[in-house]
Amino acid sequence: MNSKAAITGVYGYVPDYILTNAELEKMVDTSDEWITSRTGIKERHILKGEGLGTSHMAAKAVEGLLAKTGTEPAEIELLICATTTPDYVFPSTANLICDMTGIRAVGSFDIQAACSGFLYALTIGSQFIETGKYKKVVVVGADKMSAIVDYTDRTTCVLFGDGAGAVLLEPTTEDNGIIDSIIRSDGSGQNHLVQKAGGSRYPPTHETIDKRWHYVYQDGPSVFKFAVKNMADVSAEIMERNHLKGSDVAWLVPHQANKRIIEATANRMGLGMDRVMLNIHKYGNTTAATIPLCLFDYESQLNKGDNLILAAFGGGFTWGAIYLKWAI
Ligand code: ACO
Repeated sequence: MNSKAAITGVYGYVPDYILTNAELEKMVDTSDEWITSRTGIKERHILKGEGLGTSHMAAKAVEGLLAKTGTEPAEIELLICATTTPDYVFPSTANLICDMTGIRAVGSFDIQAACSGFLYALTIGSQFIETGKYKKVVVVGADKMSAIVDYTDRTTCVLFGDGAGAVLLEPTTEDNGIIDSIIRSDGSGQNHLVQKAGGSRYPPTHETIDKRWHYVYQDGPSVFKFAVKNMADVSAEIMERNHLKGSDVAWLVPHQANKRIIEATANRMGLGMDRVMLNIHKYGNTTAATIPLCLFDYESQLNKGDNLILAAFGGGFTWGAIYLKWAI
């Protein structure tokens, strides 16, 4: 029988600087009341410092993970980084993280699936364990959203923050680990949530900069409708096909984009908010980092064998869910 892949360690990192709603009130026409009631966000962490990119935070998370789990860099056989804000177009941020953490001569690559990136990367990483190819895989979700957020656009700048989270995947033959995964996409949603320039379609020019095309553009209400439906649908689907009732689920670990989307998903799953991981109030939407940061923050409340449903939704559109039994 093939082994399952289990998360055997988790670590998170957010930068020191805290951008509060009060500070945003001085930057754009917004209010703490609007941001709190519409999104649930109170503050977010922002990476400051010349020349520091997503890899800086991701490397901190990976270093913490290796130290916490007593793992030597030489033991890691593969590192996958989910990010929408890579340091460079190339080389990959995963390559940089390996270099910064002393992980040498192993496969490493980035996954780009916006806010669903961590679920995609976890799904891919777990395959390498399940097939028996590798025994220690690191999956990181990290984003420096402040690099692509327009701090003159009140519709997006209140939503995002910076951060990183990392997990160690190892094989298990016990009755726990990653049991099921669903990843989906629909590219017809591309125009609702997009950074238009900086890629190969519109390389950087004076014109693209003048048009502010290097920043996140989001048609919030359209994304909201799609997110509520698809995150709830995919969570219900993974529960149904694994014969889980609401009472069987210990925790929903949702992507943290908007507290109202999270509440709608929990409601559909038949879960009270006391069984939903929530840290959006202190980090905002850290894109690929939200789910590992939730696991890190709530780790002390998790018990071995707990049924967890991870669910995410993001640009693309992309979405997905993972069912796992906590293994630590
Ligand atoms: N402060 C005050 N007013 C604001 C702000 C703000 N920060 N932002 C927008 N408004 C105004 C709007 O201009 C609008 O005013 P109007 O009625 O005079 O036109 C009003 O508030 C309502 O705006 P809506 O956009 O309709 O507000 P909504 O309730 O939809 O909330 C939000 C906006 C929070 C962005 C919501 O739509 C949302 O969460 N969308 C989904 C986000 C998401 O899930 N993204 C996916 C993941 S991100 C990724 O993949 C990278």
